[in-house]
Amino acid sequence: MSDRFSLLILPGDGIGPEVMAEVRKVIDWFGDRRGLHIDVDEDLVGGCAYDAHGTPLTDATMAKAQAADAVLLGAVGGPAYDNLDFSVKPERGLLRLRKEMDLYANLRPAQCFDALADFSSLKREVVAGLDILIVRELTSGVYFGEPRGIHPDDNNPDNEGGRVGINTQRYTSGEIRRVARAAFELARKRKNRVCSMEKANVMESGILWREEVQWVHDNEYPDVELSHMYADNGAMQLVRRPSQFDVIVTDNLFGDILSDAAAMLTGSLGMLPSASLGAPMENGRPKALYEPVHGSAPDITGQGKANPIACILSFAMALRYSFDRGEDANLLERAVEQVLADGVRTADLMGAEGGTPVSTAEMGDRIVQALGALA
Ligand code: IPM
Ligand code: MG
Repeated sequence: MSDRFSLLILPGDGIGPEVMAEVRKVIDWFGDRRGLHIDVDEDLVGGCAYDAHGTPLTDATMAKAQAADAVLLGAVGGPAYDNLDFSVKPERGLLRLRKEMDLYANLRPAQCFDALADFSSLKREVVAGLDILIVRELTSGVYFGEPRGIHPDDNNPDNEGGRVGINTQRYTSGEIRRVARAAFELARKRKNRVCSMEKANVMESGILWREEVQWVHDNEYPDVELSHMYADNGAMQLVRRPSQFDVIVTDNLFGDILSDAAAMLTGSLGMLPSASLGAPMENGRPKALYEPVHGSAPDITGQGKANPIACILSFAMALRYSFDRGEDANLLERAVEQVLADGVRTADLMGAEGGTPVSTAEMGDRIVQALGALA
């Protein structure tokens, strides 16, 4: 297996470019010190791509993403683009990447770093040591289902306003089975427990979801412990006693919502990475896109306040899932933990005890220093 990898970096909008600059330092460190050769290419996505080309993702950039060993994305969107037509909104660039690369399994770990347990809105004893992995289906469901649109509601005189908005929740058994397999595989490397969430009490697609996840379990993963929960109860249980969960597998829309709730348990959205994985390519590695869970944060853009850790930890996931460098991924995660344990904090991590936050660039530098000390 080759030791050279290609990485397409798409910093995007808002704080995306700022946090990506810190990831570059980390990539350079692994190149210099660990012989990891990554050919980095950089391109536009989101609002900045719209400004340059009139589209949030050009075909040329899409082709580069398809060809790369991995894609690392910063963030897309911002108030300047709020009134654009739906078809060219920054988010469409991201959704096109997910759909055309067929990245059906979105891994969103919610891990509580001990040094940050007091930042959670829940009590320390509820979140300390928390380690949940949400596996969100990412290429189907109501995000992509047809029919969709806003139409005149003809022949319905009782509809004041006269329009109807439509989206469709649609899942095939194959789409459910493949994401279920991803969840069971991951559970085997963790605590071996999967909880599947849907709304089988009100939605046929939820009934199918439950049946297919159970089928995959019974036929292929009987050794993994499987439970089912209605998604609304799942939301409640996540804030009541989150430690009951190991891997949660759920659809695109419920996963979007539940992963934001799980993220907040850990104290800061600025800490959370994600990986979106597809089927294996010819080289045996999955198609993959890595991105921090936080958005473009227009309110702090350009001020050196952004926390680069989520993006740096997304690169750690790339080390693990795309570059076969599990040990390097562990090393990078330990460096982040060390820096937090040393009390280094960006503005989003400042608690009641006060202190002086470090800048985005200083946080990056401290993590690179910690890498040097640990290696
Ligand atoms: C996410 C975001 C996206 C989503 C938006 C930006 C399209 O909220 O990745 O969770 O809804 O999937
Ligand atoms: Mg979201």
